[in-house]
Amino acid sequence: MEQTKNRTGFLPYGRQNIDDDDIEAVVKVLKSDWLTQGPTIELFEDRLKEQLNAEYVIACANGTAALHLTMMALGLNKDDIVLTTPITFIASANCARFVGASVKFVDVDYDTALISYEKLEEAIYADKDNKIKAVVPVHFTGLPVDLPKIYQLCQNNGIAVVDDCCHALGAWFEHDGNRYLIGGNNYSSMSAFSFHPVKHIATGEGGAVSTNDKELAEKLRRFRNHGINREVFVNTEMAYSQIGEINPWYHEMQELCPNYRMNDIQAALGISQHNKLDHSLKRRNEIARYYTGKIAEMFDPEEVRPLKQKEGVYNAYHLYVLQINFKKFNIPRAELMNKLREINIGTQVHYIPVHLQPYYRNLLNSKPGDFPNAERYYEQALSIPMYPQLTDCDCDRVLDDIKKILYRD
Ligand SMILES: Cc1ncc(COP(=O)(O)O)c(C=O)c1O
Repeated sequence: MEQTKNRTGFLPYGRQNIDDDDIEAVVKVLKSDWLTQGPTIELFEDRLKEQLNAEYVIACANGTAALHLTMMALGLNKDDIVLTTPITFIASANCARFVGASVKFVDVDYDTALISYEKLEEAIYADKDNKIKAVVPVHFTGLPVDLPKIYQLCQNNGIAVVDDCCHALGAWFEHDGNRYLIGGNNYSSMSAFSFHPVKHIATGEGGAVSTNDKELAEKLRRFRNHGINREVFVNTEMAYSQIGEINPWYHEMQELCPNYRMNDIQAALGISQHNKLDHSLKRRNEIARYYTGKIAEMFDPEEVRPLKQKEGVYNAYHLYVLQINFKKFNIPRAELMNKLREINIGTQVHYIPVHLQPYYRNLLNSKPGDFPNAERYYEQALSIPMYPQLTDCDCDRVLDDIKKILYRD
């Protein structure tokens, strides 16, 4: 193999895209009166509301906070069970644990790595005590799960759907001849987003929840801000003046809640980043098409293949995952990743199945073999660079170098 190290600049598996206009937007807020709890938060929320076609958007500190807030808003506790997939970031499961609820994992379909509808149905039908209160499906990599089908199943069984959209800002699906945006909440109670730098728009840390339910929206707003209530009071004798007006300083804390607020600096960056979202999605899709076409030319699908795509959906392509038959090549994944790293190509594995994390092994007594599709997917998974600044030449370089290492040329 050609051993030219550091051939050109480092290509990470994902990265942010910050331009001068982003910097200017942040500087403008830094020079303003409001660094936090100011007007830019609502502007950012309005922008997302408009895009998602959701009635309410509540910005918050990060995607993990967004998920936690949804579990709080549903009022879940230790008597409840939440179902999610093992092929996700740990936060999709942890959110249930933060409110004391139990987590049960449901295996994925091997070829898409999305939660399996059949397995979900099995888990729900087996729940004779009706303890399952929420399902958190994940639009993994940006590929929408079949939300209408999952929603119908859950509606029939009194279960809330909270879709984890952290990979899927801008994704959509068609159903009954209509197009629905992920996060529009036509087929979910709430949707959670992350604006971590590797995601479609970056706010440093940042997240949001969308919903069409007024009551849930009010709870989400209150719960992100210490549970502070300025409208409905328990201590009325303290709340009101002698003439029956709310005392100007008065507020009440009626529940224990965190501070999960987003600040105005992040929101300004979010708005400016959002201006580039369409371009980002378009370029991500072009890159995906380019990769997929080249992979079909370069590799036997038994050896290297992309994840299966679906008809009637728009993938937001947060990630591009290859399935590589490492056994066939007789090369460990770590060796491929290390060799790629030496020649300045970053890759990652999304994800270590969550049920195999020590915390969940201890808690659930889960073990290898419990979710065979998830584990088989994981054994072969490798995320290769995917972000809008990648050029076609960068993509050629990634695939050519993977081929050289795998075939030991
Ligand atoms: C699927 C998924 N859910 C939740 C999160 C949590 O988001 P954050 O990192 O903003 O807390 C992430 C972030 O990586 C994610 O990928």
